Amino acid sequence: MKHTDVKEILLNPSLIGTDVTVCGWIRTSRDSKNMAFIELNDGTSLKHLQIVIDKSNFSDISDYMPGGTALKVIGTVVEGAVNNAVEVNAKEISVLGACPGDYPLQKKRCSLEFLRTIPHLRVRTNTFNAVLRVRSVAAAAIHRYFQSNNFVYINTPLLTASDCEGAGEVFKVTTIGYSDKYKSEEEYYADDFFGKKAGLSVSGQLEGEVAAMGLGKIYTFGPSFRAEKSNTQRHVAEFWHVEPEIAFAELDDVIEVAQSMIKYVISDVMEKCPQELDFFEKFMQKGLRNKLQNIIDNDFEVLDYTKAIELLQNADVKFQYPVEWGCDLQTEHERYITEKIFNKPVFVTNYPKEIKSFYMKQNPDGKTVAATDLLVPGVGEIIGGSQREEDLGKLLSAMEERGMSLSEYSDYIDLRKFGSVPHGGFGLGFERIIMYMTGIENIRDVQLYPRTVGNIR
Ligand code: 4AD
Repeated sequence: MKHTDVKEILLNPSLIGTDVTVCGWIRTSRDSKNMAFIELNDGTSLKHLQIVIDKSNFSDISDYMPGGTALKVIGTVVEGAVNNAVEVNAKEISVLGACPGDYPLQKKRCSLEFLRTIPHLRVRTNTFNAVLRVRSVAAAAIHRYFQSNNFVYINTPLLTASDCEGAGEVFKVTTIGYSDKYKSEEEYYADDFFGKKAGLSVSGQLEGEVAAMGLGKIYTFGPSFRAEKSNTQRHVAEFWHVEPEIAFAELDDVIEVAQSMIKYVISDVMEKCPQELDFFEKFMQKGLRNKLQNIIDNDFEVLDYTKAIELLQNADVKFQYPVEWGCDLQTEHERYITEKIFNKPVFVTNYPKEIKSFYMKQNPDGKTVAATDLLVPGVGEIIGGSQREEDLGKLLSAMEERGMSLSEYSDYIDLRKFGSVPHGGFGLGFERIIMYMTGIENIRDVQLYPRTVGNIR
């Protein structure tokens, strides 16, 4: 269907005086004595296009007015009365899809909670128009950042036989339904599709390391799946994961890449999504633009875990979870560090080895590993990363300490046998950086179809 995008009409003054065909859904409409006005949106722009109807040219406009109706309009582009906006004087209108009165988006502003109950329709709201556009621009920026810094884009498998994080959050993949025919788990899986236990990947890191050991610098950008029971504002069962892996790198190098990537993505979104950021500043988070500009202009803090524990212990606050060396940082601790102490992003480094994964580089102190989490105000952790243990003996002992099956990780172990080099990488939760850039507080509102415990459609 040949037509011109609303965005082109709004931004291209050379179209003034010409006839265009435009399609879209009615956001609002207003009928007055001789004239009627329709705000039409086709999804290419956060701003709507005003269609002006001179009622003397149409016998009956009642079908063209209900909110949600899909229209095709042929008309002349003219300069509008306010704010240099252009509008279209309608000559011909046809209804592509009628929309009855039970359309749930009739109200001016629906709550985000209500919109979660209609994920198939909420894309037609300003909020989701803006969020999904920021997602799209940020995704392109991520690819551009890595591509222009010699990283190779790798697609790691989603079906996997290993658990990267070892946190027991793997969704099982099986083709056998309920059955009492098997006497043990082993027997069950031996009869299953792959002949062994399989699941959905929680992270592409282990395969990313394989690729980095030949291609030097790689990144993945795809979904990860976690059967997390935690029903929080920042966890979903299916999230998009950006995972660079860098050969010939130590923890400092990993931190440098993480910081420069975040700054790049934020400045690209600021440049390409000004209207969307104005919208979020107005409706989601006052001061959003300043916050983002500060990220671009200032270095992030780097804070040793041991120092973080000291700061928390000396804090004049009663935390729900007690703070002592060796504990995992809870959301309240992360927020205190990044929001109250530093008020900027903080890389916490060198965590106790007991609370981190088997693959992390063991520090000479024998107690900590060369890991880092990036904490940001308002959201908490958005990145988890580390230098990897490249020493075969140390890796094997870390795996044995955790009672892991070495045979399941034989490829990974081989990497330490054949030309092992210092290397590292990180995982960025894509939804979490979208939350940060939009000021949206619930991760369910930055995805098209969020999957959480007890909720899939
Ligand atoms: O800290 P995580 O578990 O690290 C890894 O998976 C490493 N293998 C990454 C690597 O080094 N290549 O997860 C990384 C990030 C978290 O910081 C968080 O932003 C996001 O992934 N994340 C989630 N986002 C939404 N919902 C969930 N359930 C998430 N779990 C992790």
